Amino acid sequence: MKLVTNFDELYKKVSDSSDKLFNILKNDLVKVVPSPDRIWKYIDLLKEISDLIKDRINETGKETSTTYLFDPYREGLTSLGYTRHHFKVLEKAGILIETVNGLYLLFKPKAIDEAIKKFEEYLKGEGEFKIERIEIDLSELEKLFDRIVIKEEYKDVIIASLLQAIENPERPVHLLFIGPPASGKTLILERIAKIKDLNVHFACGGQTSKAGIEEVLMTSRPRILIIDEVDKIESPAYLSTLLTLAESQKLIIDKYGKHINMYLPVTIYCACNRINRLPEEFLSRFTPLEFTEFTFDEFREVAKLIFEEEIGGVDEKLLNKVVTRLWERRVKDPRRVRDAIRLAANIAKIRKIELDKAIDRVIGIYKSYDFLTLRTYSSRNRITR
Ligand SMILES: Nc1ncnc2c1ncn2[C@@H]1O[C@H](COP(=O)(O)OP(=O)(O)O)[C@@H](O)[C@H]1O
Ligand SMILES: [Mg+2]
Repeated sequence: MKLVTNFDELYKKVSDSSDKLFNILKNDLVKVVPSPDRIWKYIDLLKEISDLIKDRINETGKETSTTYLFDPYREGLTSLGYTRHHFKVLEKAGILIETVNGLYLLFKPKAIDEAIKKFEEYLKGEGEFKIERIEIDLSELEKLFDRIVIKEEYKDVIIASLLQAIENPERPVHLLFIGPPASGKTLILERIAKIKDLNVHFACGGQTSKAGIEEVLMTSRPRILIIDEVDKIESPAYLSTLLTLAESQKLIIDKYGKHINMYLPVTIYCACNRINRLPEEFLSRFTPLEFTEFTFDEFREVAKLIFEEEIGGVDEKLLNKVVTRLWERRVKDPRRVRDAIRLAANIAKIRKIELDKAIDRVIGIYKSYDFLTLRTYSSRNRITR
């Protein structure tokens, strides 16, 4: 057990300011609480502690100290259902510090009460936490689509939805990009994520959990929530959190007898390959933008952009060759153009041949397949083996 004797040191670690405590509640407590929906248990515990100290101040008559010692076992907190674990969590967040014979609480009850009040306003989007108005140049939104091949009407819809998110965040229009791999969905989402002065959170469906998303929403209150690969979300509970958020701009968590109802005007942009595993009610929240397979001209345009990025310029003859050869083989994935250029550049170096020849060699390995036939081909192979 550690012995804490230097109270000045302790005092410096955790001051008695309500602002500081509020920041701890908002940023640190949410992180150490096992799941955000249990946060009220800890808020209630803090209220109990605050009341305890208030009682003691009433007994002695005056608020004299900035540090208050209490023993959770002797003061009866454990009989209210709080365990050692609850105190450990508060300690981990930096609200309490354990000493040799119990716990020292370093906040005055007034600071605790103020911080909790502010935290509640924060959750409700009231007081100083009202949505901040921002101004963004329209021309900056137009630039989002530089070097991206996309239908004009889709461009307009995306810009219009972003404008709504900026000017009328309380009445959002959420978008769902649906389309085959390498159609530019992630590319556009990444551009949106980079808009200056807009608090955007970028998440990936397969990589986040419901609790993870709730923590982000609570602590950083993004204006825009992006979920790429949203069809990889397995959890119905996670999707249901998003349902409510999308429709009523509320983060509602109702569990363990506690209730979080946080006003959170957020515009949601999602992308997926397929919609068949997403529930109908989820889909109904979004305006769908279907990214269909590229036409030959679009594919050529994308390939041209990739040429410029990879080798700094475009040799039209070479470009046409790559595009037509791939197209003949029914390969419409821009990533194959990119890979072919990268491989060919190195093959040209190793074999000391022209880039043009090297491209021929690389494209020669592409069979006339699309991924569907490749898949049936390999499974057929497995059966005969
Ligand atoms: N519409 C497009 N315009 C420009 N480049 C594109 C487009 N679609 C795909 N690409 C190229 O292909 C790459 C992969 O696209 P990506 O946005 O990741 O596809 P996905 O639709 O699978 O999310 C991009 O980095 C880009 O180089
Ligand atoms: Mg993608």
